[in-house]
Amino acid sequence: MSNLPFETAQRALTLLSGSIKGVAMYPAGHPAVRQPLQELHAILASRLVTAAEVRVGTHDGVLFVDDHLFVAPTTALEELAGRLVEKEIREIRIVRGVREDDLTRLATHLAVRKATLEEVNTALRNEGVTTILLTGDVAEAKEPEPAEQPDGKVVKEAYNQAIKAVHGVFRDIKSGRIPHSDAVISVVNTMVEMTIQDPVTLLGLAMIKDYDNYTFTHSVNVGILAMSLGAAMGLDRRTLEEIGVAGFLHDIGKTRIDKGILNKPGKLSHAEFEEMKRHPELGAKIIGEMKEMSNEVAQAVLGHHIHRNRQGYPDWARQLPFGVMSEIIAVADCYDAITTLRVYQHPLNPKAAMDELQELAGSYLDERLVNNFVMMMGKYPVGTLVRLDTNEIAVVMRPNPVNNDAPIVKIIMDTTGDLLPSPRVEALADAAGACYAQIVAVVNPLLKNIDVGKYLS
Ligand SMILES: [Fe+2]
Ligand SMILES: [Fe+2]
Repeated sequence: MSNLPFETAQRALTLLSGSIKGVAMYPAGHPAVRQPLQELHAILASRLVTAAEVRVGTHDGVLFVDDHLFVAPTTALEELAGRLVEKEIREIRIVRGVREDDLTRLATHLAVRKATLEEVNTALRNEGVTTILLTGDVAEAKEPEPAEQPDGKVVKEAYNQAIKAVHGVFRDIKSGRIPHSDAVISVVNTMVEMTIQDPVTLLGLAMIKDYDNYTFTHSVNVGILAMSLGAAMGLDRRTLEEIGVAGFLHDIGKTRIDKGILNKPGKLSHAEFEEMKRHPELGAKIIGEMKEMSNEVAQAVLGHHIHRNRQGYPDWARQLPFGVMSEIIAVADCYDAITTLRVYQHPLNPKAAMDELQELAGSYLDERLVNNFVMMMGKYPVGTLVRLDTNEIAVVMRPNPVNNDAPIVKIIMDTTGDLLPSPRVEALADAAGACYAQIVAVVNPLLKNIDVGKYLS
């Protein structure tokens, strides 16, 4: 096990990332270059008193230092991970005796965008650096590879693209243009690819609640939840793509509803509600005008408030035939709505939201779809805040398919209730069955004043 504390290891990565940027911008002796390298050297040197080497690298795109994995990287760490992946560097081994000058040379060569792993290694050898060795993926890469897991950076980037794409469509409509569909279709294709490989990959993102951009985050979250559910049910790629597009654009008709009604904090009057109820048909009409949008997508948008019992709106469409797509959107829409804080509503925590969905199953929502959704989300859905028997507080990051009681969590508060400056990820049970801790209760994030979404992105 590493003796390097997690925070120190993270600091080392931040310094390495910073010094690479520094050498690209300043001469070698400049303080912006020297200071991070001096501090990095001090960290490594103290570790190398007892250890023979320190290993830094990426595993499936996730940075590591010895035994520490950095699954929720900062921007600086993301940049470093991206650089190593780009150069196909799997591991940098730094051994006892490393000098500050060796690290300067490493940073200098890593800063060269086009320099490959071999070129960096050769340059270091030619300069007489023997304390740093870079290795890449060798023979085993040729063996049959398991399905690649997208790393956190790629996933977050896709989310940002989705927000941008939906924003673009809303903006086009507001300026009186027929909206472009390419950006939405492109990001949906990327996300479908990810959900086909692993339906729960994007779930953490769907817990992001940006209250300043509610319309866009709600739209994207519904699209993600709907695609994930569809993928978990094994639907085909084309259907998943249509579900994604329909999810992203399900409330697009709201662009045609008066802002005063949309943003009204209290209960809507009868007339206002009648106006609001027009958004599905207005949305279907907009989609009908867009290029490369299928009739199924328009239908799914039209039907997303009709509901299982056909008691929803628009009234005139209640008896039309609607497929599974609009019902999947309805489940996702409902889940996102009840887990979101709004002026007139306290959000339910994800676990309570699952109970609520189950109450609505059979009447308001399709029972089979709700069951599939519950199975996909697991016993403690992603985004649930939990107390462990160590008295630490953690956020559920990923379900554990083999042990429903032991998801992967991010510990955010220590045993005394203080927020950790660098939250850390723990698998509550590892593959060998060793148990880190058990969940003893679900905690209300409002009581702890915690924005759960912050820890999931
Ligand atoms: Fe809606
Ligand atoms: Fe909605």
